[in-house]
This record gives sequence, C-alpha cells and structure tokens, in this order.
Amino acid sequence: MKRCDLLVDLGRRRFLSGAGVAAAGVAASAVLPANETKAAVPTARVTYPSTRLGNVNELKLNEPLDVAYPDDDASGVLIKLGKRVEGGAGPEGDIVGFTTICPHKGYPLHYNSERRTLNCSGHYSVFDCEAGGQETWGHATQNLPQYSLRVDEKGDIYAEGVDELIYGRLSNVL
Ligand code: FES
Repeated sequence: MKRCDLLVDLGRRRFLSGAGVAAAGVAASAVLPANETKAAVPTARVTYPSTRLGNVNELKLNEPLDVAYPDDDASGVLIKLGKRVEGGAGPEGDIVGFTTICPHKGYPLHYNSERRTLNCSGHYSVFDCEAGGQETWGHATQNLPQYSLRVDEKGDIYAEGVDELIYGRLSNVL
C-alpha cells in the first residue's frame, strides 16, 4: 500500500472509532435518567490561593495599574473604571483586572483609556474592559481572561481566579 493510502486508511479508522464513541454516548444518554444525562457546564475558571495585587488607594480613575497574576510570568492590569461593570469588585463594583497577554498569539496588550479597551499591537484585537473582556474586534478566538477579584475592608485587592485560559498555558493550574 502506498504511503498516502495508508494515511487515508488511518484517517478512516480514526473517524469510524470516533463515530463509535459518539454512538455509544447517544445510546448511554438514551437509557440514563434525565438528571444523569446533564453534563456539568465546563468552565475554564480556576481558583487560586488569594493573591494581593494592590490597594484601592493605588488606583487612579481609568488608569491601569500593572500587576502580575497568577505568577510573575503573567502580566496584567487592575483598572478602576468609575462605573459598575461585569466582574467589577470593590464598593462601587468598578474595579476590574485582566491579563495583558493577548489570547490570539501572546502579544502584549495596551490600555486605551478613551475607549476603555485593551488593544493588541500584534494583529489589532480589541477587548472591552467594561464588558468582561469581550473581544470586539480581531483574530482572537476567546475573550480576554478576567481576574476574579475581592476587595477586603482595608481596601486590599485580591485576585482569586481567572475565567479563561491565559495564552501559552495548557492549564490555568500553577
Ligand atoms: Fe493579539 Fe494576534 S496576538 S491579535
């Protein structure tokens, strides 16, 4: 058998074995009670030990504060937006945190204070900081990973998780 025929045959067998698994899944869901067929909704959010990133006194309205989270190799920012937003923390619900590593190919992101977006200089993806890091333009195929923040009574800001996979990582687990 020629090499390309072998590859075609290999691909056919993989396809057929995948179809078998899919058929088995359908059959299993048909016999299980309704409450057991519901798969848990997968989430990329991972909880880390609390990490203090700063204090509310260090934040200036609409100016990013550079931080790193969940480790020193993962640059990010805290931003006080001045209005309550999705994922916002603090008394006004207006403090957000994001990675500044573009989820497309890892270029650094820069804050545009006029539009309140994080913008990529690589291929121009744009992420809306007022909408949970939603991508509004560009090549990235996921939204910008946003920190899960908590602000304590002293105003210290802690990050406790990330809601998407940070670029370049196979897992958000440290
Ligand atoms: Fe950011 Fe490509 S690396 S859009």
